[in-house]
Amino acid sequence: MVISAPQITRFLQDGAVTLDTPFTTDQVQAAAAVFDRIVPAAPPDAKGQQRFRTSTTCSFFDPELVDLIQHPFLEEVAQGVLDAKDVRFLQTAALATYPQPPGPFTFDQHIDLQYTRADLEASPRRIVCTFFLWLSDVTASRAPLMYRSGSHLPLADCWQSQPGLQQHLPRVIGIPLADLPALEYGDPHPLLARAGQATVLTTAMVHGASVNLDSSPRKALVVTFTARGVTVALPPAQQDAKDAYEAGLALQLRPERRHILAA
Ligand SMILES: [Fe+2]
Repeated sequence: MVISAPQITRFLQDGAVTLDTPFTTDQVQAAAAVFDRIVPAAPPDAKGQQRFRTSTTCSFFDPELVDLIQHPFLEEVAQGVLDAKDVRFLQTAALATYPQPPGPFTFDQHIDLQYTRADLEASPRRIVCTFFLWLSDVTASRAPLMYRSGSHLPLADCWQSQPGLQQHLPRVIGIPLADLPALEYGDPHPLLARAGQATVLTTAMVHGASVNLDSSPRKALVVTFTARGVTVALPPAQQDAKDAYEAGLALQLRPERRHILAA
């Protein structure tokens, strides 16, 4: 197995585990170079505010990125994480965080995914397997993802206890920390990694992007999977974008890799 039982346990308990990958330095650098074109540093907005974080979701077909998305490694890890023989691609995004002038280290905190404890403990799991494939080293000052280890567990119990909510779950939904129930979430920690590693995480735990106080950008390719037959509801606009993207992606994947699409 490309992910061990202890690593899966760590994912389930902590909400994140970082893995070495088979991706070569050349592959990672080629993908990182694509980011300079598809998620460049953003110009100031209409108010003259400089933006340091850029992203694009389900919009790219560059072979350097498609080769990573369709790599059997991600599929096999997702099979282990989701306890599923058969998994399918859900979404992908390119995220870049550019250096900003010296200032306080600040970060966002939110969740993007809601599921119950029963969803998490089902076989296959009714959750999303999210990969952050790091295309640059992530240090404490270079925009590490901040996360509250294990916070998805009290949340999953809380969602399960709310009458009428289960019928809408699992679903992708953004909820800021301020709007989450007052539970014991633990302290936020930075997620550090090397270029070429992949972090498997659940965005149902409290997490968020931080500022880049380093001198070079932080780049991450996000790829997500679900177990085949498990529906995780997406916001309508995201579902439309995914459907359109998959139609294009089907033409780009190697024939022997097209089974990762919903079909
Ligand atoms: Fe998020």
